Amino acid sequence: MTTDYDLLDKQLEALIDGETDLLAMSANMVGLLFAEISDINWLGLYLLRADDLVLGPFQGNPACVRIPLGQGVCGTAARNAQTIRTDDVHTFDGHIACDPASRSEIVVPLQARGKVFAVLDIDSPQKARFSQEDQVRIEKLSLHFVQRLASVKSDLNEFI
Ligand code: SME
Repeated sequence: MTTDYDLLDKQLEALIDGETDLLAMSANMVGLLFAEISDINWLGLYLLRADDLVLGPFQGNPACVRIPLGQGVCGTAARNAQTIRTDDVHTFDGHIACDPASRSEIVVPLQARGKVFAVLDIDSPQKARFSQEDQVRIEKLSLHFVQRLASVKSDLNEFI
């Protein structure tokens, strides 16, 4: 099953347009993406607070609450301010296993004013679930979401 990212982008816009509560916007963004992106078992935000990523709105099984910056897939993506797409989490040195069902993962840092303030983490039970095309489209959705957040609050550091 493929994901209709154009439709997803329109649905995201409709869900968050005109809203000013950042927590509500984030919760709905996570709910929408989890419902519409196929073959995933976990999707959520980790929020950068001091030197830790702290669990934010998510869908899926309960997950680790704190990830130190630089650790795991999430902490590495946040520290390097670069998306990480791993086809097999077992081959990622330092991967933090929250759900043993997860096999592949993509982590997209969210940045405002040149600083990472959160990451979007998506896990799949399928090996190599996320293609280069998925990465491009998920990065685009994330950027759209960040632009909306930034239009509500200019400083997104510890945004919720
Ligand atoms: N696998 C992540 C931890 C978060 S869970 O997947 C929800 C990591 O290595 O950073």
